[in-house]
Amino acid sequence: MKWIEIPSHYLSEKSIIQLVELSEKSFCLVWNDDKWIAFSKKCPHAGANLSHGWCEGKDIVCPYHRHRFNLIDGRGAPGQGNYIDIYPLKESNGMLYIGVTENIWSRIF
Ligand code: FES
Repeated sequence: MKWIEIPSHYLSEKSIIQLVELSEKSFCLVWNDDKWIAFSKKCPHAGANLSHGWCEGKDIVCPYHRHRFNLIDGRGAPGQGNYIDIYPLKESNGMLYIGVTENIWSRIF
């Protein structure tokens, strides 16, 4: 796994869901339940941008058709049959990093 630093300006805004676009990875970042959570930017139902959604408790709600996803394990609400990815984060020396799985091609070249 490769750890990529999240630019600090994203960490100054804790009241909204942010779309973070780095060269290696695009994802949503939100401050929820006193911690940062990184998750898929696209809704698995029909591709809505989840950064336009909102949090209700520990769930993210999609703005298009209101599918809900748990921000701990990514599971969709019962009956939806879908999920989002939750990405690993770690803090070190006051910086926040997202863990990205390297694909086979990036390891070769
Ligand atoms: S696109 Fe997200 S619920 Fe339909």
